[in-house]
Amino acid sequence: TALLALAALGGYLLGSIPFGLVITRLLGLGDIRAIGSGNIGATNVLRTGNKPAALATLLLDSGKGAIAALIARFVLAAADVDGLGIEAGLAAGVAAVFGHNFPVWLKFKGGKGVATTLGTLLATAWPVGLAACGLWLLTAVVTRFSSLSALVALTGAPVAAWFLATPVHAAAFALLAVLAWIRHRENLRRLLNGTESRIGAKKK
Ligand code: G3P
Repeated sequence: TALLALAALGGYLLGSIPFGLVITRLLGLGDIRAIGSGNIGATNVLRTGNKPAALATLLLDSGKGAIAALIARFVLAAADVDGLGIEAGLAAGVAAVFGHNFPVWLKFKGGKGVATTLGTLLATAWPVGLAACGLWLLTAVVTRFSSLSALVALTGAPVAAWFLATPVHAAAFALLAVLAWIRHRENLRRLLNGTESRIGAKKK
């Protein structure tokens, strides 16, 4: 359990790097927290109009979840801690999402954890990750709501894990799904009253 705690701590620290904020600041696009939804994620970076910056945010934010999970898994495998590799990977990946959502550097005001969760899914159970990415894309193509796509994808993940991975995966992904719903409260309100912005829509 000490090793699992260490995996979680490492995951949290990696996850707490706010790439959206760093990239937009480096590019002189202003403070992302004062733009659009105020979120630090790729969807909101896209609202600056800079597509490469949004893509970089998506890849780095998902990459940090994946890397956290993979490092934890292989370090424990190398340390020959029997059978804990899967749990360590999940612990680090879940912790990375918490790091993204509640980064100590931003007074715990972080993002919504969608990209980081997708990275964690791909690294810990790639068929589930692919299923979730497919659900996201499908919903996005149909509705153009990034938030709704995220909720569909991340809610589908524990269900997919039940069939394509293990109950341990399903439990970890269910936790991330609940967290995603909590983090999308404002998006839910906007979706329900018809004011949520669509991907590619003109700015208000
Ligand atoms: O990844 C976050 C997305 O689901 C919603 O982002 O900026 O529209 O609140 P945003």
